[in-house]
Amino acid sequence: MLPEFSLTEWYDISTGRLRGNRPVVERRLVDLQGCFADEGEYAALLSRENPLLYTVTAVDHSEGVGDLHYGLGVLHPGKVGSEYFMTKGHLHSWREAAEVYIGLSGRGVMLLEDEAAGESRLEPLEANSIVYVPGRTAHRTMNVGDKPLVYLGVYPARAGHDYGAIAKSNFRMIVVEQDGRPVMMARDNSL
Ligand code: F6R
Ligand code: MN
Repeated sequence: MLPEFSLTEWYDISTGRLRGNRPVVERRLVDLQGCFADEGEYAALLSRENPLLYTVTAVDHSEGVGDLHYGLGVLHPGKVGSEYFMTKGHLHSWREAAEVYIGLSGRGVMLLEDEAAGESRLEPLEANSIVYVPGRTAHRTMNVGDKPLVYLGVYPARAGHDYGAIAKSNFRMIVVEQDGRPVMMARDNSL
């Protein structure tokens, strides 16, 4: 069955959202407990305000074996200490499920971490860039610019989100601003 709308027509570049009453996930600073390495800076900012970090508008047509879902993410600029505003990050519940991220506007990076080997990589995510996230790879997105970062993530309908596994160990690397640039460093040696 053909979808009921054309994604391009429904995409609103000014808000980075899809028109209509699509479910929107909103995550604020309070929802990212434990994600930022500098707990002091996190607590200090949270005591002053609880900013909106990002929204995800998900389009999930159906759960068929071959179906795809996609989500439009809008990640706002900002920092906690020297760490950029970021997404929670997750593995897919169905570990084999890969994902493609397409940058639409703004400037960001993606932190990828192989679940078995623990290897990490940082990839740019900005307008006209594409990031392939293989299966069994934890992924987290950071906004390293001063405007909202807007991107589309496309993944198998049955991928699911596993936040628990990566929250337990947290990502091994963090991304901080140094001399105006994003730098990846080991969490243990950081700050
Ligand atoms: C879906 C996906 C994205 C994220 C979005 C928010 O598999 O990777 O749509 O859901 O970038 O990040 P999380 O889900 O980690 O809060
Ligand atoms: Mn994903």
